[in-house]
Amino acid sequence: MKGIILAGGNGTRLSPSTNSMNKHLLAVYDKPMIYYPLSMLMLAGIKKIMIISTPEDLPRFKQLLGDGTSLGISLHFKIQEEPRGIPDAFIVAEDFIGEDNVTLILGDNIFYGQGLTDILRKAVKNHSGATVFGYRVKDPKRFGVVEFDDNQKVVSLEEKPEEPKSDFAVTGLYIYDNKVINIAKKLQFSDRAELEITDVNKKYLENDRLDVELLGRGFAWLDAGTHDALFEASEFIKNIEQRQGFKVACIEEIAYYMGYLPKEKLLEIGESMGNNDYGKYLIDISSRKHVEQYWGVSDHHPSLRVVENE
Ligand code: G1P
Repeated sequence: MKGIILAGGNGTRLSPSTNSMNKHLLAVYDKPMIYYPLSMLMLAGIKKIMIISTPEDLPRFKQLLGDGTSLGISLHFKIQEEPRGIPDAFIVAEDFIGEDNVTLILGDNIFYGQGLTDILRKAVKNHSGATVFGYRVKDPKRFGVVEFDDNQKVVSLEEKPEEPKSDFAVTGLYIYDNKVINIAKKLQFSDRAELEITDVNKKYLENDRLDVELLGRGFAWLDAGTHDALFEASEFIKNIEQRQGFKVACIEEIAYYMGYLPKEKLLEIGESMGNNDYGKYLIDISSRKHVEQYWGVSDHHPSLRVVENE
């Protein structure tokens, strides 16, 4: 399984903050936005990940994350010349994906909730067809919307419908088999001059190969596409982190508990950050004796450490 983070776009809704800075590099509380989707792919056990962004912004992602060696993963970078829509990522990343299945996550999607790691790993393991995640929202018109019949069978999908047939949005996390590359290549541009991910999902639905997993009310799914949404996401993360003393989406911590990063390396990274809270946190984790005590919950138990899902 390969992973893709789509981190392009102009971020015009966040202007002027994004006039000289890619949206996905802005901070969501104490770390860059892209750490959140990256942590999801890492928790899913995916180790080969491509970040797709604009020609101007790609070097900054490289500067931030390097080639992934320090996290025990392998990061690849590819330019998307024009924002041609989400499915274009599969065309841009065709060589990288090769014969594998692929999980795509949008760079501004933040997921949080107990049990998420298990859900991700189950969905990624031995994957076939397409798996997407539905989440109940108050304003479905802004999203791809999935309609179910009384037996919870998916009957339709619509992109940003005027009159949504349900309150269930399709989130920005998509898992596909290798056929997605050819499906993406055959798509027509929509009225907003983009290739639409909803059209990809409709193709899988037509072939009875679409699985929609619902994330219940105990999960948070946030996007950070407007000033208000970004501020609220920061507040949400701050509240959780300050209450529990655990960080959300701390990629070095995840690498450590996944078994990719030895304790000494974690300590070294923490110390290299100087005297800031993030660095202190890494140092603190590296000195804890019992990881079980640390995680405290089954979905983050170290027994879930995996070698890459192929
Ligand atoms: C895109 C997709 C939409 C999906 C949403 C999730 O919307 O087109 O189907 O529900 O991401 O964040 P966009 O970001 O293009 O508005």
